[in-house]
Amino acid sequence: MPDLRPHEVLISADQIQRRVRELAHEIRRDFPDGLHLVAVLKGAFIFLSDLIRHMNGEVSLDFMAVSSYAKGTTTSGEVRLLKDLDTTLEGKNVVIVEDIVDTGLTLMYLQEILRARGPKALRTACLLSKPSRRAIDVKIEYIGFTIEDRFVVGYGLDYAEQYRNLPHIAVVGS
Ligand code: IMP
Ligand code: MG
Repeated sequence: MPDLRPHEVLISADQIQRRVRELAHEIRRDFPDGLHLVAVLKGAFIFLSDLIRHMNGEVSLDFMAVSSYAKGTTTSGEVRLLKDLDTTLEGKNVVIVEDIVDTGLTLMYLQEILRARGPKALRTACLLSKPSRRAIDVKIEYIGFTIEDRFVVGYGLDYAEQYRNLPHIAVVGS
């Protein structure tokens, strides 16, 4: 049996906090007025809550939920919309807030359905990116950290719904 408990801190809580603050300022600089953040549940909820606390001025939020992984650590390639937005995106400056981009299939799907709703701008912020795993070339304007192909948990990310509460990013498995 492989050991699937977190065994190595990859990114410390301090490193995350510093980078999230930089990203928040960068996004705010690009969209000083209207800004509408769409967070992807459940993984992005902690990233979103830290991001918005570093933003001055007006910012509105909405949530979507999709499922791309079943229970394990490999992708099925299939994306399902589990919860849709509450409000329209028409004419808004929208930034999708994601926890991690792996194959890119989830994000590509989200960008396509959200773009069809007529936002003024549509960009993406992700905390983590694993470029070596990419199956499609998806555009990401704001990336927190680029990481190797390892399965990570913490700061909102889970393995079988556990470890979202860790304040840092840790590796599970090999
Ligand atoms: P993608 O569609 O392959 O890019 O997968 C994106 C989704 O898979 C993310 O939003 C996560 O929910 C999940 N995921 C991918 N890699 C990891 C990981 O290392 N840890 C936890 N979840 C992950
Ligand atoms: Mg996710």
